[in-house]
Amino acid sequence: MLRVPPFAAYPELRMRRLRRDGYVRRLVRECRLLPEDLIQPLFIREGGGREAIPAMPGVERIGIDELAAEAARLLALRIPAVALFPVIAREKKDATAAEAWNPRGLVPRALRVLKECCPGLGAITDVALDPYTSHGQDGLVGERGEVLNDETVAALVRQALCHADAGADMVAPSDMMDGRIGAIRQALERRGHAHTCILSYAAKYASGLYGPFRQAVGSAAALGGGDKRGYQMDPANGAEAMREIALDLGEGADIVLVKPGLPYLDIVRRAKERFGVPVFVYLVSGEYSMIRAAADRGWLDEKAVVLELLSCCKRAGADAVLSYHAGQAAQWLQEGDGAPAAR
Ligand code: PBG
Repeated sequence: MLRVPPFAAYPELRMRRLRRDGYVRRLVRECRLLPEDLIQPLFIREGGGREAIPAMPGVERIGIDELAAEAARLLALRIPAVALFPVIAREKKDATAAEAWNPRGLVPRALRVLKECCPGLGAITDVALDPYTSHGQDGLVGERGEVLNDETVAALVRQALCHADAGADMVAPSDMMDGRIGAIRQALERRGHAHTCILSYAAKYASGLYGPFRQAVGSAAALGGGDKRGYQMDPANGAEAMREIALDLGEGADIVLVKPGLPYLDIVRRAKERFGVPVFVYLVSGEYSMIRAAADRGWLDEKAVVLELLSCCKRAGADAVLSYHAGQAAQWLQEGDGAPAAR
């Protein structure tokens, strides 16, 4: 509510006074983007080295041998956490997704390396079956092709326990099955993992913006013409997101996440205002690639645009942002010049 004294009108009131010089812009700035606000998603692969992802220029799939160095670099940039996304070999995918809870699988091995080399870096793991299923769906599929809810939840519980056993600090169910947060929370308690956080992808929309990610992890080919509208949310719905978030909080989620990011910041704002809990937002692969593609053509100034958009996430109410630009943005912020905080 704006309460402006009657004498404060143009020409005495000049809004531009507070914008004229850098010093005053810095003083009245309402929110600040810091490296501490950013989470770096990492694609991890079997075998060593680094591999380019054609649909995401500048992002690579990295082998476990590269993980310690990458983690140390991000920690030095003051990034608090990474989110792991595995690329699973086709011969390990099947209809049961059993590789998802193999204690010697790619994610548990990566977790052990991370916790060994950089215990201070938060390790977040994705809980969903799509990297492991031959059909690329996030859950188990029934005879009529539908994604089965309760059977999937049981599998997700096994996957989450496997990650927690291997040292995950935070498990992040991104599957959108009903009831999975409560089931995972109870199982974690029973297994003695009372301190493992649950970051729930509570409002995850059925978005076309996940395209490059599906190429990156190799689930696009598996998915074929299939889609995820039977469990991910309709982009037209906002009230439904509030119900999803309320349910997940009731079941024991510590943090809720909205995804994709920029077109859904209204959901972030509503969630923050309504529930007052930590809300994260995920600037997804398609959002990254749109910016990168334009920047590579010289159509956008990547640094200016990325720092602007990340700041907008904070203004909207997000406590942290998952972004493929996280490491790069943290570096820009540390360099200081041109960053919103310094301008
Ligand atoms: C799958 C998952 C997806 C993303 C994160 N976890 C894709 C999907 O739902 O198909 C997308 C992330 C991105 O696009 O950057 N559980």
